[in-house]
Amino acid sequence: MAAARGEFSSRFGFLMAASGSAVGLGNIWGFPTNAASNGGAAFLFMYLFMAFTLAYPALMAELIIGRHTRSNAVGALRQLSRGPLTKKLANFVGFAGIVTVSLILSFYAIVSGWMLAWLLNSFATMAGMESASTWLTSDGETRNAIFSIIFMLLTVVVISAGVRDGIEKWASRLMPALIIILFMLIVYVLTLEGAMDGLRAYLVPDFSRALQPGLIISALGQAFFSLSLGVGTMLIYGSYLSSKENLPAVGTLVALLDTGIAFLAGLLILPSMYVALANGVEIFDASGALVAGPGLIVAVLPALFETMGSAGVFVALAFFILMTIASLTSSISMLEVPVAYVVETFDTGRRKATLLIGGMVTIICLVIVFNFNSLFDLVVNATTEFSQPLLGLFFAVFVGWVWNRNGVLQEIQKGSPEVEHSFFWKVWPFYIRFVCPIAILAVYIQIIFF
Ligand code: TRP
Repeated sequence: MAAARGEFSSRFGFLMAASGSAVGLGNIWGFPTNAASNGGAAFLFMYLFMAFTLAYPALMAELIIGRHTRSNAVGALRQLSRGPLTKKLANFVGFAGIVTVSLILSFYAIVSGWMLAWLLNSFATMAGMESASTWLTSDGETRNAIFSIIFMLLTVVVISAGVRDGIEKWASRLMPALIIILFMLIVYVLTLEGAMDGLRAYLVPDFSRALQPGLIISALGQAFFSLSLGVGTMLIYGSYLSSKENLPAVGTLVALLDTGIAFLAGLLILPSMYVALANGVEIFDASGALVAGPGLIVAVLPALFETMGSAGVFVALAFFILMTIASLTSSISMLEVPVAYVVETFDTGRRKATLLIGGMVTIICLVIVFNFNSLFDLVVNATTEFSQPLLGLFFAVFVGWVWNRNGVLQEIQKGSPEVEHSFFWKVWPFYIRFVCPIAILAVYIQIIFF
């Protein structure tokens, strides 16, 4: 028999772990630039709308499946299956989730490696080590390989320590630190010249763009990626949650923390960009759009930090610590998905399973590093635009159509006995049966065929 499963020791521990998963590069890097190039607050509204009407119900589906089955993605969906056909589908969806999240981790580790390199650069700069600094900040295969490996090692160390001593312990330490650093950086940046222009670009809505299909798709994609949906991450965290917890309430808190931190990140990134502009840094690309891709983090912001004089070194340090924390609390939630599957299916020890899977993901990661131009975008798009929404749809189908309504209700009632008469239970079952699948399918068809 497999060893007893892990469980989070407290609601706080779960909240830090789940919001740590949700809050990542997607919030601090992806969201603000997406907003800036899509009509500012118009995008923010659309994103919040998508997050609470579509992503939150999907998050609840994963948490409920996880807590009920107390199993990894494959085992969980199999338990819900009622016939050979749904069992086959369960195997396929669960397994596709595991493969998808492993691939997401393999590109996430590369980008997180950049953050680590830049973090180290702050120390190199303080020590006056110029050549080290140049190496750390120049894009090169060796540097990228080394730092992806270091980042994967950190992820492996946390995951091999288990649910309480690894995930919960580190998320509970790192997430409060992330929030404090984020606030400090916002307060500082808002005092600088140009910051108000950034606030305007972020918060004054251009509603003429709010209903464009492109914007709606980006908002939904952003919400899904940001809540770590569709690949069994939230399912596995839900499976470690105590039956005493009120699921709709903790799910709401996770969604609020995630969107709240994305919103706050916008208050940091956009004002920073306009401060950079005021200091003579170019923040628009050739087509006139705001720089959004890697250029934002490794060119625009560092150029800004440089114009800040000696304070800049510390601001840069704080910023890259923030990015590294955000990355690590997300990457551990990715690695946990395949590791839990291997531990529970093959009765492998956790440490061995973590090393094995971590090693495999690192190899894929290195293949991408050394074939960056042909593989990086491909892997990002295939996983986040193709696979993730489609699998999210199947999770909704399993809860809405395969599992019976009473079973779902009983699971939620364990921690919230009154739920049957709540607004949540009036709306959510309908959402997960009809609204989520149809909306995801509609967006999906747009992405694939247009
Ligand atoms: N949500 C994280 C972010 O915003 C990334 C993340 C963690 C993720 N786990 C995931 C994305 C699972 C997709 C699937 O950066």
